[in-house]
Amino acid sequence: MNYDFDEVIDRKNTGSLKWDFYGRYFEEEDVMPMWVADMDFRAPEPVIDAVQKVARFGIYGYTEETASYHEAVVGWLKRRHGFVIEKRWLHYCPGVVPALHWIIQRFNRPGDKVIVQTPVYYPFFEAVQTGGCHLVNNPLVQVDGTYRMDFADLEEKAADERAKMIILCSPHNPVGRVWSEHELSELGRICLKHKVLVVSDEIHGDLLLNGHRLTPFASISEELAMHSITCYAPTKTFNLAGLQISNIIIPNPALAAEFKIAMENNHVSRPNIFAVAAAEAAYRHGDEWLDQALSYFEGNQALVRDYVSSNLPELKVTPAEATYLAWLDCRALGLEIGALQEFMEKKCGLALSQGYIFGAGGEGFVRMNLGCPRSVVEEALKKLYRAIESFCRS
Ligand SMILES: Cc1ncc(COP(=O)(O)O)c(C=O)c1O
Repeated sequence: MNYDFDEVIDRKNTGSLKWDFYGRYFEEEDVMPMWVADMDFRAPEPVIDAVQKVARFGIYGYTEETASYHEAVVGWLKRRHGFVIEKRWLHYCPGVVPALHWIIQRFNRPGDKVIVQTPVYYPFFEAVQTGGCHLVNNPLVQVDGTYRMDFADLEEKAADERAKMIILCSPHNPVGRVWSEHELSELGRICLKHKVLVVSDEIHGDLLLNGHRLTPFASISEELAMHSITCYAPTKTFNLAGLQISNIIIPNPALAAEFKIAMENNHVSRPNIFAVAAAEAAYRHGDEWLDQALSYFEGNQALVRDYVSSNLPELKVTPAEATYLAWLDCRALGLEIGALQEFMEKKCGLALSQGYIFGAGGEGFVRMNLGCPRSVVEEALKKLYRAIESFCRS
């Protein structure tokens, strides 16, 4: 079937974080919400049917992940990414962020160091700090407008004997890189050498644009599979974040046993009955929807790139290899952190994620969520243009 991603769906008063609760995070009442990473699109039809079936049955008792659900995940990873996993490697967790918290707490001792690569998805920082660990940054470097890893710096940081773990973001939010097998192998080589456990957050792994291919970290070699934990989920892929389900992939039985203890210690072991049904339907029947959504994101990303290059020479768009997030370099506007935030909100009327929250290297950038109809992106670009024209050009 053809999905109509151009349809503007009114999400106000539906309990949406993005649309109904932005007042908790932004001062302005009347802003276009393009911040938190969910999409303004309905889930694939088979997912809606599956949820309705559970809803209509009317008994919402405890559940477990079924063998059939695990088969659906295994099938999806093989079909979409050529990644062959065993069912027993899969572990339920309500979300990737909770998984990161529990992994950090379980696998480190207070005072250990955990490496991140900023600018990066900022809840990583809190997960490290809540776990009593020290954040160590291996900042990404910008080369010709795109981002690379700094392996010399990583080697130095990983060599510190208190450095026990790295949280890899692959593909990377917010900079939109899909790391190549070569880059991931080099990171893996360094981490193996210095016994730094790799926790690979691959939640954006299905959102690949313009022919880019995901290299699942654990698919590179047996050695790296045994030395890593992969956090994966259907929630970004199919816009199911409110259902809260993720798949933590742990090939190493010793690490898996520890993860299970962490889950049990936190009394989290059983999923939401709607989430399992929805995720299974998505993994079994969601390819068509996702393929169409990805083409739509490519169009939205191209629109932003082309519009900015023709009309907004003050801004630069980072080439997006994955995700529906645009990472805009606004440094040439010359606004300090607070002033840029105020400008976007009060002068442009846009609720965007401010770059500085993603850590060092994010200052002067904004992240714009393009998981919305094209007309909304067009309107947002016009808002940006009008404000820059009125307030920034003399
Ligand atoms: C890199 C990354 N990890 C994790 C999450 C959130 O995961 P969850 O909702 O499963 O906790 C997000 C959400 O945007 C994300 O971008």
